[in-house]
Amino acid sequence: MAQFKELVFSGVQPTGNLHLGNYLGAIVKFVELQKSHDCIYCVVDLHAITVPQDPVQLTSSIREVTAAFIACGIDPKAHIIFNQSQVPEHAELAWVFNCVARLGWLNRMTQFKEKAGKDRENASVGLYAYPALMAADILVYRATHVPVGEDQKQHLELSRDIAQKFNNDFSESITRTGFGDAFFPLPEPLIQGPATRVMSLRDGTKKMSKSDPSDYSRINLTDDADAIAQKVRKAKTDPEPLPSEEEGLKPRPEADNLVGIYAALSGTTKAAVLQEFGGAQFSTFKSALVDLSVARLGPIGAEMKKLTGDPAYIDSVLADGSERAGAIARKTMDAVKDILGFIRH
Ligand code: AMP
Ligand code: TRP
Repeated sequence: MAQFKELVFSGVQPTGNLHLGNYLGAIVKFVELQKSHDCIYCVVDLHAITVPQDPVQLTSSIREVTAAFIACGIDPKAHIIFNQSQVPEHAELAWVFNCVARLGWLNRMTQFKEKAGKDRENASVGLYAYPALMAADILVYRATHVPVGEDQKQHLELSRDIAQKFNNDFSESITRTGFGDAFFPLPEPLIQGPATRVMSLRDGTKKMSKSDPSDYSRINLTDDADAIAQKVRKAKTDPEPLPSEEEGLKPRPEADNLVGIYAALSGTTKAAVLQEFGGAQFSTFKSALVDLSVARLGPIGAEMKKLTGDPAYIDSVLADGSERAGAIARKTMDAVKDILGFIRH
C-alpha cells in the first residue's frame, strides 16, 4: 500500500468536566507525541451537539478544553489546536463517509447503544452517525496515528473500515487522479500504558466519565488540592493490603484502578508500583497518591484558570489553528471531489 507521511490527530469533546481519564487516557499522550510527530488536536464541537447542549455552556467548554490542551503542554504554534466547526470540510467529508459506511457497521457501535439507552427512537440521527464524522475528522488530514482511550477502539476500527472501503470502491479513480493505489491511510489507534481506561473512584467497574452525577467519581482537571485529596481519600477500596504482583489486582477493580492511576501519573508500570507498595495498607498508598496527584494536576488546574481568564487569547489560538487546519483539509476535500467525479469550479 502507498506510504503516508506520519501525522497524529485526536479530538476531545467540549462537554464539561475534563477529568483524570481524559488526561491519562488521551492528553498525556498528545503531549508526548509532539516530540516525534506533527500533531493536530481538535475540540470536537460538532460531536458535542449529538446530544443537547446549552449554547452558553458549550462556548465556555470549548474554551476550557482548549485551555486544558495548552495547560497540559501542547504547543499551539508548533502544532495545531482548533475547533472542529470552523473547518467545514469535516462535515463535508462526513457526508461522503455516511454514503460509504454501511448501516450494519454502525449498528454494532456499543457507544451508540449506551448513549441512546432504552429510548433509541428518540436519539438524534447525529448520535448514530457520530463515528462517520469521527472518521472524517481523522481522514480529512489523512492522519496515520490516533491517540485515544480504550473506549474509542471500536470507533477507530470503523474509521479503518471506512478508509479501506473508500480505497477499494474508488480504486480506479484514485489511480487515474494520480493518488496511486490508496487515497486514505488506515489510521492506527495508539492505546497504550497503564491507564487506557480509568475507572470511577466510586465504582471500579464503571468508566470515569464527564457525565457521572457524582463529582466524587472523578478528579476534574480544575479541582484544587483539597478537592483532589478528599476524592482520593474517599475513593472506594477493599479491606486487603495491596498485592505484590499484578496478578493479585485482577479480582480487585478498585485497587487495580488506583494502582494504574499511580503508575500513569508517575510514568511507570503497575508492576513497579506494586514493587514499592505491595503489602501496604490503602491509607499509606492513598497518601502517596494524593501527593502525586496534587503535584501533577495542581499546576495544570492553576494554568487552566489563568488561560480561561483570557478568552481573547484562547479564541486567537483557535482561529490560527482553524486556518492552518483548513488549508490541509481543503486539499483533501478537493481530491475527494475529483475522485468521486464531482465537477469543481
Ligand atoms: P471524550 O471526553 O469522550 O471526548 O474523550 C476524550 C478522550 O479521553 C478520548 O480519547 C477518550 O478515549 C479518553 N477518555 C475518556 N474517558 C476516559 C477514561 N475514563 N479513561 C481513559 N480514557 C478516557
Ligand atoms: N469520539 C471521541 C470521544 O468521544 C472524540 C473524537 C472525535 C475523536 N473525533 C475524533 C477522537 C477523532 C480521535 C480522533 O472521545
